[in-house]
Amino acid sequence: MRIVMVGSGYVGLVSGACFADFGHDVVCVDKAAEKIEALNNGIMPIYEPGLDALVASNRSAGRLSFTTDLGPAVAAADVVFIAVGTPSRRGDGHADLSYVYAAAEEIARAIKGFTVVVTKSTVPVGTGDEVERIIRETNPDADFAVVSNPEFLREGAAIDDFKRPDRIVVGVTDDRARGVMTEVYRPLYLNQSPLVFTGRRTSELIKYAANAFLAMKITFINEIADLCERVGADVQDVSRGIGLDGRIGAKFLHAGPGYGGSCFPKDTLALVKTAQDHDSPVRLIETTIAINDNRKRAMGRRVIAALGGDVRGKKIGLLGLTFKPNTDDMRDSPAIAIVQTLKDAGAVVSGYDPEGMDNARQMMDIDFASGPYQVAERAAALVLVTEWNEFRALDLSRLKSTMVSPVFVDLRNVYRAPEVEAHGFTYHAVGKAD
Ligand code: UDX
Repeated sequence: MRIVMVGSGYVGLVSGACFADFGHDVVCVDKAAEKIEALNNGIMPIYEPGLDALVASNRSAGRLSFTTDLGPAVAAADVVFIAVGTPSRRGDGHADLSYVYAAAEEIARAIKGFTVVVTKSTVPVGTGDEVERIIRETNPDADFAVVSNPEFLREGAAIDDFKRPDRIVVGVTDDRARGVMTEVYRPLYLNQSPLVFTGRRTSELIKYAANAFLAMKITFINEIADLCERVGADVQDVSRGIGLDGRIGAKFLHAGPGYGGSCFPKDTLALVKTAQDHDSPVRLIETTIAINDNRKRAMGRRVIAALGGDVRGKKIGLLGLTFKPNTDDMRDSPAIAIVQTLKDAGAVVSGYDPEGMDNARQMMDIDFASGPYQVAERAAALVLVTEWNEFRALDLSRLKSTMVSPVFVDLRNVYRAPEVEAHGFTYHAVGKAD
């Protein structure tokens, strides 16, 4: 299959590289000339484990190329994926579809022969209808079908998620397009990944419902964590105790500082807006968003409380800044609100992240340290914000020896109280009585 990926961001790049690895012929298109030039020189615009090697091997096999020139690529394609960004629109939280619609128009002008146009970007219900209308209006002679095929990959595990998905969702009504999509995903189908064929609008909603449910699940356990602290229970045991129930499932029950990233905050908000517009509010998700927003600042206040309520002039060190490990993504990271809360209270904040420092520099004005032990120097407290592997086996004695007071706030429950306390620290975890 000849595949074109319009948009070489996270989803486009990972999907493009993986499709090429399946043996398809893939062209990734992006308007940003410097991004395409970098990719043509083997430089990845994002940090994603394994992506550089996957891109390199498929480029040298001649199955993957990058260009700014959409026209010729689309003219030769069997399938064109739209994988451009759908950020939250300023002011109202609706998904901003201007990039999707602009891509549809450009694709329409270039289409030759029967072409399947697939929205992979996360788009609100009904977007596929609008894409179809735009293409038909721009090029009335075009022979095409519009399909929805949402992507469920997680940053940091994106390649594995793409190659071993729990399911592939395809919203399609046209029989020819269904045949093409079956061909595109044949390698996964042979691996017995379930292909869920449904209507286009249903497929669009599945993506939002999945992300909203997961965000709600995390928020649920975070509230239970708060309750655990009050009643003297242990949230990790609660997670295990409920997660072993097959109806609940063990995943996404890790209590922490609140969810962040490029998807959950944006998609929950967009779902709420769509639901309100259709007079069918999703109140559980509205509440989830409010709880999660409050939680991020509450984590900063928790650090202040751990230092007795006064942090003015004190140095506080943050271990990890990204919204989760194995990414350099800082979007909606809890670290942003935590830093702000600490700075508002007069603390001097220092931070270190294995991959997120460059992005963090654009978003926060703190001291950036060169490693975990430098973060700890003269600190009154250390806060583990992101559970990078690098922070899982720290030399606690070495950390403590340079700190002015041995306070350790573990917002990811990476450590166990007895081992940290044995080194003379005061230890605060999430969802466990102090
Ligand atoms: C998410 C979805 O998982 C993915 O299917 C979708 O395509 C995009 O959005 P991603 O944002 O990359 O992926 O990260 P994910 O691993 O889902 O984590 C999201 C946030 O939830 C992170 O801030 C993470 O720290 C937090 N989280 C996750 C928890 O706090 N507890 C958990 O148990 C799981």
